Amino acid sequence: MNNQIIVAIDGYSSCGKSTLAKALAKKLHFIYVDSGAMYRAVALYFLRHKIDLKDHDKIAEALKNIHLNFHSRDYETHITLNGEEVSEEIRQMHVAESVSAVAAIREVRLEMVKQQQRMGQTKSIVMDGRDIGTAVFPDATVKFFMTADPKIRAERRYKELLPKNPQITLEEVFENLAHRDYQDTTRIESPLVRADDAIILDNTDLTPGEQLLFALSRVEPFL
Ligand code: CDP
Repeated sequence: MNNQIIVAIDGYSSCGKSTLAKALAKKLHFIYVDSGAMYRAVALYFLRHKIDLKDHDKIAEALKNIHLNFHSRDYETHITLNGEEVSEEIRQMHVAESVSAVAAIREVRLEMVKQQQRMGQTKSIVMDGRDIGTAVFPDATVKFFMTADPKIRAERRYKELLPKNPQITLEEVFENLAHRDYQDTTRIESPLVRADDAIILDNTDLTPGEQLLFALSRVEPFL
């Protein structure tokens, strides 16, 4: 490979973006960055420190005290918040419930986007999120916009969360996804929207293997 390639994957909550992003990165030996994990870690910090989401001075101060790091073994997302491994805690429902409100805050987005752009400066990368093809890397080599039937998305996420959250219900998961999609698509700062040049990938009826083959066929011409 002689050129740097950026693959941007955006889409609704829980429609398989990270599954595809990880698989692509592994196959192509690219760096994988789960941008959602960064917003989740910031949301966790705000929860722990009881940051009022309307207090912009406190938010600015908090952002200066937040240090996020990815340490990528095995293409899973391992993220630390000020040195503490939080990869599991950020997946819990209390974080899922507040993350979209946190991600709508301008100061938070400016800081995260700056860090994300730095990660894509030198190496080939696959990044998934909501604004990767529109705001973070508007010149990405290939952009995907993923979608899937909301009921299927809720079922997939429910199965993923259930082992560690035996009390969780499918309805609760469905509501959370619907609410986050609403917040993400209607916010003022870089709302979730398909970039004009993004390839639509509806994976309602696709297996992870099938979606990988589809995505690979679109990236391979640039290798
Ligand atoms: O995995 P899931 O689809 O549940 O969401 P995620 O990728 O972990 O992202 C969690 C939340 O972070 C989203 O609902 C968005 O509110 C926010 N987010 C964002 O605003 N911009 C991104 N680039 C990535 C995530």
